[in-house]
Amino acid sequence: MLDRSLIDPNPMGLNTLNKSTANLGTLAPLDRTLSLAPMMGCTDRHCRYLFRLLSPNTLMYSEMLVTGALLHGKAAHFLRHGGDEPCALQLGGNDPQDLAACARMVEDAGYQEVNLNVGCPSDRVQSGGIGACLIATPALVAECVAAMQAEVKIPVTVKTRIGLNDQDDYEHFHHFIETVREAGCRVFIIHARKAILGGLSPKDNREIPPLKYDYVYRIKADFPDCQFILNGGINDTATALAVLPKVDGLMLGRAPYSNPYLLAELEWALYQHTSMDRLTALADYTDYMVRNIETGEPLKHMVRHLMGLFTGIRGARSFRRHLGAHMFETGSGTEVVEQALAEAGLNHHAEAAETFVAQQARQQQYR
Ligand SMILES: Cc1cc2nc3c(=O)[nH]c(=O)nc-3n(C[C@H](O)[C@H](O)[C@H](O)COP(=O)(O)O)c2cc1C
Repeated sequence: MLDRSLIDPNPMGLNTLNKSTANLGTLAPLDRTLSLAPMMGCTDRHCRYLFRLLSPNTLMYSEMLVTGALLHGKAAHFLRHGGDEPCALQLGGNDPQDLAACARMVEDAGYQEVNLNVGCPSDRVQSGGIGACLIATPALVAECVAAMQAEVKIPVTVKTRIGLNDQDDYEHFHHFIETVREAGCRVFIIHARKAILGGLSPKDNREIPPLKYDYVYRIKADFPDCQFILNGGINDTATALAVLPKVDGLMLGRAPYSNPYLLAELEWALYQHTSMDRLTALADYTDYMVRNIETGEPLKHMVRHLMGLFTGIRGARSFRRHLGAHMFETGSGTEVVEQALAEAGLNHHAEAAETFVAQQARQQQYR
């Protein structure tokens, strides 16, 4: 369990320490201390709504949306969101004019930022000439960013990696950032490992190339008018607190997705904010699911984000198992969630109804 000394410090002026004076456009700067990583198949609007209940301060990122889907598909459907602000939508593309048109749609749909994906290593994305392979063409990325920025007032940011294949020395990375910065980008989210194309699966590409946080610390020193958000391998509050003073913010993906209540822990550690307990969040999310089911949204699209909500509490596995077994049944409603809670004994479990702060205080008593 987390050592209280790690979560109880004066938040070290972290919020002010990390506010950069970089020019982020004409709008008030977003607080980038903590962000939720864009994750295909995970961070859809429902996930972001749920996570927002637990964390008012996290900057949320959508899954990547390719420009073709927006320009030729059901744009209104893809852009629909609510209750997740502040939220950035991530675009995948490589055509400056298409990206500019999409950035406009993103701004009009009420997102607070538009982000360009320069890090996805999947074969499909690579064959479309987007994602991580763009690391090799910084001038094109700069052109894309400039075109997007000319179109919108919201910040245009770039999420990238520290290198590509054998272009993984610091000089390549520096050149990439320098080129894109010259086009006006002032916020970079850095997944601190390189991408290896044509050999590793996307999953392996998130695990095998080693994390090199020192590249991020160095680039921050080299470009003090930019903000650098560090991403990759931050799985707990202790690591977050250790790394945060060296960068402008942190982005977390897999850890909060598998254990959303980590966000409540981080809210306390970073903001001294007491997030709601799990059962209260679940009750609110259940109302949200009911409203969405009425508009034709299938339950399974929303329930799947609940799988990790009780991680660390007795009964969590049984809760997950029940949801997994019943959420795909046609016509199921939110009673599936109530049944899962009852079966796991979680509706009577003190910890499930406790805020993170209350839980810490109780554990302290028994130490
Ligand atoms: C299932 C999954 C889907 C992902 N999809 C995207 C994506 O759409 N866009 C993107 O920039 N990164 C994507 N990523 C990468 C994450 O945003 C993040 O960079 C990576 O998981 C490392 O952060 P973490 O160690 O905190 O998980 C995805 C990661 C996962 C696990």
